[in-house]
Amino acid sequence: MAAEADIYRHMRSKSPDPRRLSVSAVREHLRSNWIAGELHCFDALDSTNTTARELARAGAVDGTVVIAEKQRRGRGRLGRSWVSPAYKNLYVSVVLRTALYLESDLQISLMAGVATCETVREWHEATIKWPNDVLIGGRKVAGILAEMEGVGEDRFVVLGIGVNLNAEVGDYPEEVRDKAISLRMAVGEPVDRARVAGRLLTLLEQRYEQLLREGFEPIARAWRVDSGMIGRVIRVGEPGGEVSGEVIDVDADGALRLLLASGATYRVVAGDVTVVGGYERGAAAGAV
Ligand code: BTN
Repeated sequence: MAAEADIYRHMRSKSPDPRRLSVSAVREHLRSNWIAGELHCFDALDSTNTTARELARAGAVDGTVVIAEKQRRGRGRLGRSWVSPAYKNLYVSVVLRTALYLESDLQISLMAGVATCETVREWHEATIKWPNDVLIGGRKVAGILAEMEGVGEDRFVVLGIGVNLNAEVGDYPEEVRDKAISLRMAVGEPVDRARVAGRLLTLLEQRYEQLLREGFEPIARAWRVDSGMIGRVIRVGEPGGEVSGEVIDVDADGALRLLLASGATYRVVAGDVTVVGGYERGAAAGAV
């Protein structure tokens, strides 16, 4: 299996590329109790989510983290791919086993969006687009892919997070250049990737523990503020066609509640959201 081959190649390699994020550099910035108790940093993987799932199936402990410098087949939501240039960004996956106590998978996706947005905000202002895209100036700086597997006690979630950190415009194919942004492009100088990784995993543990302890409402409160989507008009691509309406709220399970022109309400549980009039408030015409 490709992921297994990557793991063995990694174990045999004696001289890691000096550009690779090291376990000790990430740990310097980590203030977590159990997330990243097991932390693996690779040069190249097909996808950190694939390798994290392999490790979880083989019994990896709760909170195991996989980081890669490059992904050959990085995956995004809705079957898309995730552009993953080498040694520039952060591609990280976390195995969460206690997720089996949660009521809804969407809750964990929104929780991860809040933690990622909070991390990015330590460097630059950012917002969340439902469910969990993190945007700067209407362009995507981070994306999250939550994948569930197994049943009962064996169930686990792999939370995969990609953050564009030091990539430059030329690192992205033409078709995504006007949609993607890195923190480096936003702040005008390179960022310390180990520090971002450490802060992200620390904030993720805090928000996840809050979700388990206090339920979804505190996460929903943070999400409402971070997203600025309440009251905006959006379009959503759904299997049955496009739906458009005003965002009223985020529900107790993480779904987006819309008010349609007919006066009916509508729940969005999946799909691609476009904010009509552009994502930023008061922005010129356009849509993100
Ligand atoms: C999206 O916005 O479409 C989700 C993108 C998720 C990308 C990350 S990068 C680390 C992890 N490994 C993957 O293959 N995907 C996620």
